[in-house]
Amino acid sequence: MVEIAIMGYGVVGSGVAEVLLNHTENIAKRAKEEIRIKYILDLREFPGDPLEERFTKSFDDIVNDPDVKIVVEVMGGLNPSYDYVRRCLLAGKSVVTSNKELVAAKGAELLALAQKQNLNFLFEASVGGGIPIIRPMSQCLAANDVIEIAGILNGTTNFILTKMIRDQMDFSDALSLAQQLGYAERSPEADVEGHDACRKICILASLAFGKHVYPEQVHTEGITKVSLADVEYANVWGGVIKLIGRVKILENEQVHIIVCPMMISRDSQLATVDDVFNGILVRGDSIGDVVFYGKGAGKLPTASAVVADVIDCVRHFKARKYLFWDEAVPGYVRDYREDTVAFYVRAKTKDSTFALGQAEGLFGDIRQLVRKEAGKDEIAFVTEPLKEEEFLARLEIMKSEGIEVLSTLRIGEF
Ligand code: HSE
Repeated sequence: MVEIAIMGYGVVGSGVAEVLLNHTENIAKRAKEEIRIKYILDLREFPGDPLEERFTKSFDDIVNDPDVKIVVEVMGGLNPSYDYVRRCLLAGKSVVTSNKELVAAKGAELLALAQKQNLNFLFEASVGGGIPIIRPMSQCLAANDVIEIAGILNGTTNFILTKMIRDQMDFSDALSLAQQLGYAERSPEADVEGHDACRKICILASLAFGKHVYPEQVHTEGITKVSLADVEYANVWGGVIKLIGRVKILENEQVHIIVCPMMISRDSQLATVDDVFNGILVRGDSIGDVVFYGKGAGKLPTASAVVADVIDCVRHFKARKYLFWDEAVPGYVRDYREDTVAFYVRAKTKDSTFALGQAEGLFGDIRQLVRKEAGKDEIAFVTEPLKEEEFLARLEIMKSEGIEVLSTLRIGEF
């Protein structure tokens, strides 16, 4: 029998206990050992819970108990998770986590510590909830050089955008609904401002290219400025708006990485990834495009990925050597403004003929977009691809001509 501890009894932690209790026999068959929850760490009380007598408020009970071989960290956040995880590894316990903030901020360090201790530090549930992505990328796609990853990595924002696209639902109503359904982070900013998606693309970038990318290095924009007018123009253009995390490797071994709402064509494999679902497109040199799709948030999907990692730990007590990345050299992440991309622009003007003429003069071959509900003072167009810094400079000239830019979006090509 293998004894484990769960740190945090929130949505994911209680899901992990539920999965372990409801599938005890099958899990024991797959792990080739019975798995028993010895402790659950949480400061709150859970009277009447079937595991009530296993609760503790003291981390020391866990870290000092030599019988606990695996610790599941599902508290979220960095404090005290980082300290607890480090101390568990130092005490000879493997760690499984769903905590993307922890992996994105401390992954290189904790992986190195786990390797040194010959233990596992596994985090399948940190990206894509229940979707298998970390293990397939590091094992099944190991023969490929990954060229690019583009993903819808946040269920809450995808749910909100889907409601805006399909039902013209108000942003805040859709967010409340996502929170009621248990998809959203404790602070909605983490979802709607793109931080959650940013942490996840950092983990995938670090894994794919072997060098740690930190969230602070990634230009991140959320969806709070996306309006129903933009949604409608995307439809006229032939696509949809999605919050995308994207990373690509450049010839000189630097990376371009960004998180932002993008207009993507209806033909893209990511365009039909709706509601709380996540979709992650991985482009490999041998395999071409592979898309991973499924529920990216929620109690049981995420818990199932955590429990799979626990089973992996039980079956391989020594460090899983395939999962590793190093610190990057300075300058590894290229300035996002150096990337070449096409843009959508929506603007307000007193004279639309003049404004469109200006846009053509500045951006060359533009495609004008027209929607029925637009007032006479609104124009919208899509540019050809150009360097972002060049786009921003030309946009400033447009503004200096008295044209008010209401919104811009990058066009995603995948
Ligand atoms: N808030 C996250 C989401 C939960 O909506 O995707 C899963 O990481």
